[in-house]
Amino acid sequence: MTGAAAPRAASQGRLPSGGGSREIHMARRKIEPIPDGAVPVMEAINISKAFGATTALVDVSLRSYAGRVLALLGDNGAGKSTLIKILSGVFPPDRGELRFRGAPVRFLNPAEARQLGIATVFQDLAVCELLSVTRNVVLGREPLKGVGPFKWFDMKRADEMARSALLRLGVRWERGLDERGVNISGGERQSLAIARAMFFGSSLLVLDEPTSALAVRQAGKVLDHILEARDQGQAVILITHNFHHALSVADDLTVLAQGKVAADFRRDEIDIDELTDLVARIA
Ligand SMILES: Nc1ncnc2c1ncn2[C@@H]1O[C@H](COP(=O)(O)OP(=O)(O)OP(=O)(O)O)[C@@H](O)[C@H]1O
Ligand SMILES: [Mg+2]
Repeated sequence: MTGAAAPRAASQGRLPSGGGSREIHMARRKIEPIPDGAVPVMEAINISKAFGATTALVDVSLRSYAGRVLALLGDNGAGKSTLIKILSGVFPPDRGELRFRGAPVRFLNPAEARQLGIATVFQDLAVCELLSVTRNVVLGREPLKGVGPFKWFDMKRADEMARSALLRLGVRWERGLDERGVNISGGERQSLAIARAMFFGSSLLVLDEPTSALAVRQAGKVLDHILEARDQGQAVILITHNFHHALSVADDLTVLAQGKVAADFRRDEIDIDELTDLVARIA
C-alpha cells in the first residue's frame, strides 16, 4: 500500500504489514507481532465514560503487553487522559471492564492500582504540592527503618533514593530535596513524577505527555527510559502529541478521536507522514 494510510475502524483489524514503499524510518528493532494467546498486562474492554453531558469515551478497548510500548495518540479532548485515569484508578468507568493479567479488576483509588505496579505519570496531577521533592519521589513506597512494630520513615535512605532517581533521569537538582512541590516548575514536576515511576519499576508504566514540558535533553532521557522499561519487560503506554517521539519508541499505536478508537496499527505499518496525515484527518 502506498501513499497515505486510510483510517479504518479498529474492528477492521490491522493494516497489512511491511512491504513495498512503506519504508520504516525509525526502526530500531524489528517489531514482532503480538504472539497468539499472549495475555495483556492491562486490557480495557468497551470502556465508556461521560462527565455530565460530555461524553469522554465510548466503547474503548485497548491492550497493553509486557515488553511493548503502546503510543496513544489523538487530538486535544480525544479522551486519552480520561482513559489512562481509568486504568490508573483515578475514577471508575461508567461501563466496561478492566483486566489486569487476565483477571477482572476494579480500582477504588489510585493506590490500589499502584499496588499492582501500575506507575502513572499524570499530565495534570503529576506532583503533590504539599510534599517535599523526596516525599514525592518515594510516594507509596516510603522506606522505613526500625524493628518489629516500631518503624518510621527513613529520611536518609529516601533522600538517597530521590537523588539517585533524579540523577538517572539527568535532572540536576540544585535546590534542597525538602523543597515542596508547590514551588517547582511544570517541567520539574514531570521529571519528579517520572523519577518516581522509574525508581520503583512497574508492571505497567503509563506516561501522559511526559515530554511536553521538558527540554530536549531530558525528553531524550525519558524516551531512553521508556525503552529501558520495555526491555525489562514492563508494559508501557505513552501518550504524546509528538509523532517523532511516538514512532521512535512505540511498537503499537492507537489513535483516539472523539472518545473512540479510530485506528490502531503496528509501528512498522506507518511512517511519520502517513501518521500525521491520518491523525489530522480523523481528529
Ligand atoms: N474531570 C472532568 N470533568 C469534566 N469533563 C472532563 C473531565 N476530564 C475530562 N473531561 C472532558 O472529557 C473529554 C476528554 O478529555 P481528556 O482530558 O481525556 O482528553 P485528552 O485526549 O487527554 O486531551 P489533551 O490532549 O488535551 O490532554 C474532554 O471533552 C474534556 O473536556
Ligand atoms: Mg490529556
